Amino acid sequence: MTYGELFRPQFHFTPAAQWLNDPNGLVTYAGEYHLFYQYNPEDNVWGPMHWGHAVSVDLLNWTHLPIALYPDEHGYIYSGSAVIDWDNTAGFGKEAMVAIFTHHLDHHQSQSIAYSTDKGRFWTKYKGNPLVPPPDTIRDFRDPKVFWHENGDAGYWVMLVAAGDAILFYSSPDLKRWTLRSRFGSGYGSTEGVWETPDLFELSVDGSLETRWVLTVGVGDGAPAGGTGVQYFIGDFDGESFSSHNPKDTILWADFGADFYAAQSWSDEPNGRRIWIAWMNNWQYAEVIPTSPWRGALTLPRELKLASTPQGIRLVQKSVSELLNIRGEHWHWRDEAIADVNAELLKKVKGETLELIANFEVTEVPANQHFGIRLRSGKTNHTTIGYATADQSLFIDRSQSGFIDFSPSFPDIHTADLAPLDNAVKWHIFVDRSSVELFANGGQVVLTER
Ligand code: FRU
Repeated sequence: MTYGELFRPQFHFTPAAQWLNDPNGLVTYAGEYHLFYQYNPEDNVWGPMHWGHAVSVDLLNWTHLPIALYPDEHGYIYSGSAVIDWDNTAGFGKEAMVAIFTHHLDHHQSQSIAYSTDKGRFWTKYKGNPLVPPPDTIRDFRDPKVFWHENGDAGYWVMLVAAGDAILFYSSPDLKRWTLRSRFGSGYGSTEGVWETPDLFELSVDGSLETRWVLTVGVGDGAPAGGTGVQYFIGDFDGESFSSHNPKDTILWADFGADFYAAQSWSDEPNGRRIWIAWMNNWQYAEVIPTSPWRGALTLPRELKLASTPQGIRLVQKSVSELLNIRGEHWHWRDEAIADVNAELLKKVKGETLELIANFEVTEVPANQHFGIRLRSGKTNHTTIGYATADQSLFIDRSQSGFIDFSPSFPDIHTADLAPLDNAVKWHIFVDRSSVELFANGGQVVLTER
C-alpha cells in the first residue's frame, strides 16, 4: 500500500479502501490500542455497516486487521463501544473483550453484544441478541457507550444510549441484563439535530483533586460550522444520572471546524489519560468527498483535560504526546514583526505534512487587523488560518482550498471566539495533505477541517 493517492492523509487513520465513518469500540488491552470503525467493505459510500478493525501501540502507526463484526439477521452493525470484562461478569471467559453496539434493521434499533477472548481477533455474537429494545416507539436509539463504575462498595456497568433528543442511562451487573436508570437532555444544549454517539468520563479540573463529569454528544445538525458537530456538558454523575452544572441554554462545542464528529474516548488507557478521536468529516458532504479508493479519515488522537477559564470550566484538547516522535526537519523564528503581507518569512517552509507552532503577540496590533498564515499555497489556491482583532475571532477560510466544488456546503469560512491569552494568540497546527487541525490557546478552542 503506497498511501500516495491524491489527498491521502499520512499520519491520520484511513482505511486502505472503501467507506469509513465513526470510530467504535475504543479499548486498550495487552499493550494494544484497538480501533474499530463503521465500515462498508463493498463501496466507498455508506451502506451495510460492519466494524472494521486496526491496532496500534502508539496511536499513530496502525495495523489493519480483518473485519471484526459483520451484519447478521438482526441487521447492520452500527456504532458502539468496547470494554474488557476484567472480573468475567458476563461469563464469556477471562478478560474477554466485549463489544456493545447497535443492531439496525429497517427502522428498528436495539443494543447487542459480541465478545472475543483472543485480544479482539475472533468475535462471537451473543446468542441472546438483541438485548435492549427501545423503551418506547423511538426510532433513533443507538450508539451504546459502556464503562465500569465503582459506586461505594458496588461496581456495575453503565451504558449510555442516544435516543432522539436525549441520552438514556442504563446499568447492568453482567453486560447482558440492562435496567433503565435515567435520562438527560430534551431541551439541554443544542437540540437542532438528532443526538448520537454519546460518551461520559470524569476529569480533574486544572490537574487538581476536584473533578467534573463530561458528557459528550454528537449532534446531527446545527453545529457552528454547519451540519454535524460534537457538543459537551459539564456536570455530575451519581452512578445513575447526569446533571449539568450549566443552564439549559448553554451550548458548549468541542470543535468549531466542520469536520469533527462521532468522537469517542478509549477505555482502559494504560497511562490514565483520557484520549479521544473522531471521524474527520461532516454528514453534509461525507459521501462526496473526492477521495478514492477510500473515503473517510479520523482526526488525530487528542488528550482531554478540564481547565478553569473566565467563562467557566471548559474542555481543552491537545494532540497526544506520541506525535512528538514523528517530528522531522525543524525551522524556528522569533521576534519577527508581521507588517503587511510578509510572504518571505516562511518561504522555506514547504511540505504536505507540517506541524506549526505560532505565538502572536497582540498587544500592539491595531484594532481592526487580520493576521495569520496561508497553508498549501499554490498559484491560485490556499487555505487561510487567521485572527481578526476587531471581534477577537479565529477563522479558517477554505473557500479557495483547491477542489472544493463537490458540495455547496464545503467552501466556507468557519469562525470561533478567541480572547488573547497573556496578550497572545497561540496556535498549534497540524497539516496532513488534505486536513488542518488548529488547537488555539492551549487547546481551549479547536477547529478541524478537511
Ligand atoms: C453517526 C452515526 C451513528 C450510527 C452510525 C451509522 O455518524 O449516524 O449514530 O450508529 O453513524 O453508521
